[in-house]
Amino acid sequence: MRIISTKYLLARAKQERFAVPAFNIHNAETIQAVLEACHERQSPVILAGTPSTFRHIAFQDLYALCQSFAGTFDIPIALHLDHHEALGDIRNKVFAGARSAMIDASHLPFGDNVALVRDVTDFCHKYDCSVEAELGRLGGIEDDQDVSAGQSFLTDPDEAVEFVKLTGIDSLAIAIGTAHGLYKDTPKIDFERLATIATRVGIPIVLHGGSDVPDDYIIRAVQLGISKVNVGTELKIAFAGAVKHYFSVNPEANDPRFYMRVGMDAMKQVVYSKIRLCGSAGKLTIGSES
Ligand code: 13P
Repeated sequence: MRIISTKYLLARAKQERFAVPAFNIHNAETIQAVLEACHERQSPVILAGTPSTFRHIAFQDLYALCQSFAGTFDIPIALHLDHHEALGDIRNKVFAGARSAMIDASHLPFGDNVALVRDVTDFCHKYDCSVEAELGRLGGIEDDQDVSAGQSFLTDPDEAVEFVKLTGIDSLAIAIGTAHGLYKDTPKIDFERLATIATRVGIPIVLHGGSDVPDDYIIRAVQLGISKVNVGTELKIAFAGAVKHYFSVNPEANDPRFYMRVGMDAMKQVVYSKIRLCGSAGKLTIGSES
């Protein structure tokens, strides 16, 4: 098994109306926890790293870990560059093996967003690297980005059609009311907007901010055409919460094999839950490029 382009995973997901979960990972333990759960459920998976993940662990080291684990767990893995903002950064990581990238230029005006995404797509497609881009803007904190509610705005369906046509991207991240991180109140998801975009845009659609969204909302979003669901915050909270509890009960503990395992097992529960909402269990076979 090997590291593949996201488009091969999303082709089947779009066709069969399920979603591939994309989990933000940061080190060996978080990768291992996600893959253990995905192997048990026979779910396809995207492992996502933001620029700050790759400041914590170099891309080539994380890539080597994923490649090795793909063999151990017999799962094809898409290792995705999440929320990358510069062509040069993406280019270096593609040369080091990346085959899935998000160029996030959603903060730029439409024309500038298109121009940067087009450059990234032109480059990435030469290397069979699939490209995701975002139109509209999610609120919340993700990596180095802190977007206030006032700065966020939803995706316009007409612009989405135009954006896909002009950029040649493989998948489109849309803003329909989710945000990165936890919510103060239940999020208001614009399902009608999602349905409109899904019927008018021919490529897989991506939902960011998958943590802390009510289960039935995720299920409905997938039914309406979301093919990839991104989840980060809930994994971190589960891992950290379990480790904190472990130390509160075992204040003298110092062996990472024990306290890490507790964190990993808690994280796995979140992964099982998101696999269920995405409907991705048992869908390991890779689709051909549509
Ligand atoms: P959450 O942290 O809200 O789950 O969002 C993750 C995400 O969208 C990564 O791109």
